[in-house]
Amino acid sequence: MSAYIDSLKKWCEDMRQSYEDFMTHVKSEHIQNQLTHWKVQLVQFQEKLSHSIHLHDLDLYDRANELYEQLQSHMVGDKESIEDHQRLEENTRIVPIGGHRLLPLPYAYDALEPYIDEETMRLHHDIHHKSYVDGLNKAEKEMQKMRSSDSFDLIKHWEREAAFNGAGHYLHTIFWEIMNPHGGGEPTGELMNAIEKSFGSFNQFKAQFTEAANAVEGSGWAILVWSPRARRLEILQAEKHQNLSQWDILPLLVLDVWEHAYYLKYQNKRKDYIENWWHIVNWPEVEKRFNKASTVKWKPY
Ligand SMILES: [Fe+2]
Repeated sequence: MSAYIDSLKKWCEDMRQSYEDFMTHVKSEHIQNQLTHWKVQLVQFQEKLSHSIHLHDLDLYDRANELYEQLQSHMVGDKESIEDHQRLEENTRIVPIGGHRLLPLPYAYDALEPYIDEETMRLHHDIHHKSYVDGLNKAEKEMQKMRSSDSFDLIKHWEREAAFNGAGHYLHTIFWEIMNPHGGGEPTGELMNAIEKSFGSFNQFKAQFTEAANAVEGSGWAILVWSPRARRLEILQAEKHQNLSQWDILPLLVLDVWEHAYYLKYQNKRKDYIENWWHIVNWPEVEKRFNKASTVKWKPY
């Protein structure tokens, strides 16, 4: 418990540091006032963390997250000098290149006992998940360097790193959130309807998901996905966790480089095929996909 509170305290310190850094160059007086008010609330929350003994983990996490989101929203608001921070936040908040962060678990390390033990949670979140975040940030920064120097010699390596660590970060972020000490049982509403339509019944879904997870070769994941094309749910396995995809992403522009796509005309000259392919990209369609896909927004960590 105290270690969890410590991790929230650390998060608050990080937020406070971001606040201090940001305050030094805030332009709008309106935002300055809002930030000052925000800091009062942060300090109150920090005091609560320091003094209270009987604290409810989930409430604390929610409050910390709320403060984090408010700070982000004020920061964006100042940059754009627009009054409607809420709307703007929804539309503009992004994770900068190399700026992914590991947030604390949304509950204490021992909250999932006896099903998942405290030691595992500590190791899993603090060591493994953190290494994915660090690895993803590093890969993104290296790819940015490649773009600015127009030198792509190591592209394969860093694309692999981005996929491996990106998948690790995104999947773990979902994993922590789809578990809860008060969880279990069955879903309700639209999700339950979709499960019944897609798998026959909840029990059949559960049986397939269990077997799929158990049968993953080596390390990996079992994943329940929504297919926007089939308009059904599906269960998939991800071996390791990437196979060069990050999951949690939506494909927009795709280029088939299997030999069957170009061999008759280009033989082994894949690069010629790729260069020529740019003449026939249907950008309005890609744009349509982007406009639709970009309405799906999870919290930016
Ligand atoms: Fe993991």
